[in-house]
Amino acid sequence: MHNSAALPLPEQLVLQAQWLAPARSRMLRENGIGRRQCVLDLGAAYGAVTAELVRRAGGRVVALDRELTTLTNPQGTFADALRTGGEARALPFATASFDLVLSQCTLLWVAPLESAIQEVTRVLQPGGAFLALEPDYDGLMESPPSIETRTLWLEALSRAGANPTVGRRLPGLLAAQGLQMRVALFDSLVPPAVERFGFLRGLPLTSKERERLSQVEQQAQALDKPWAQVAHLPFFLITAVKP
Ligand SMILES: C[S@@+](CC[C@H](N)C(=O)[O-])C[C@H]1O[C@@H](n2cnc3c(N)ncnc32)[C@H](O)[C@@H]1O
Repeated sequence: MHNSAALPLPEQLVLQAQWLAPARSRMLRENGIGRRQCVLDLGAAYGAVTAELVRRAGGRVVALDRELTTLTNPQGTFADALRTGGEARALPFATASFDLVLSQCTLLWVAPLESAIQEVTRVLQPGGAFLALEPDYDGLMESPPSIETRTLWLEALSRAGANPTVGRRLPGLLAAQGLQMRVALFDSLVPPAVERFGFLRGLPLTSKERERLSQVEQQAQALDKPWAQVAHLPFFLITAVKP
C-alpha cells in the first residue's frame, strides 16, 4: 500500500537527520564520499540529507522520490541536486549509473523490499557502495512502562504500509545480492524529545490508540527530570559494496 498521508513533516525529517548525523557522516567518510562522482539519495523527500550529500560528494547528486510534492516543496533543501520523481522498485536509471546510493528511512516504506534491493544493486557501479540507515521498531526500548509506544508504532506503521522491522531484514537480503556487507547499530542514547510523538500522531491510529498516545504524552511530559525516561529506536547502519 502506498500511503502518502503517512509522510512526515519537513521539520520532523530535519530533526531525524540531525539525530542520525554523526553516524551518517562517519559512513559517508568511510566510504570516500569526496571522491564519489554520481550519488543517489533514494527517497529524498524534502532533502533533509540531500544538501549534505551535495556539499560532500565529489560529483553530481540526484534526489529521487515517488512523491513529487516533496521534491518541489518550498521547505526543501536540495542545493543544486538534480530532482527526479521515480519508484525505488523500478529506478529510472541505466545500469551502473551511481557510485554511491544512500537510503535513510526509505526502505522502511518499500514493499516488496527485494525489488528495491535488486534495483539498487543494478544501478550501482562495481566498487559502488549502498549506505542504508533504517530503523527497527520492534527493538524500540522504552522506560518507564508508562511511556511505552512500541506496540502503537508497530500497529500504525503496518497499517500505513510500512515494514517496521526493515532493519533486521536488510542484511540478509543485501548479502543475497552478493554485496559485501558491514553492519553496525546506532549506538548513542540521548534524552528522548517529545517531538518523537509527532510522527506517530501522523500515522493511521484507531481512536483507542490515539487515546493511549495522549496518555503517554502526558506521562512523558510529567517526567521532566534528566534521564527520567529512556527511548531508543535501534537503527541499522549498513554499508553494502558491489564487488
Ligand atoms: C521517511 S521519508 C525519508 C526521507 C529522507 N530520506 C530523509 O531521511 O529525510 C521516506 C521517503 O521515501 C519515499 N518513498 C517511499 N517509498 C518509495 C518508493 N517505493 N520509491 C521512491 N520513494 C519512496 C517517500 O515518499 C518519502 O519521501
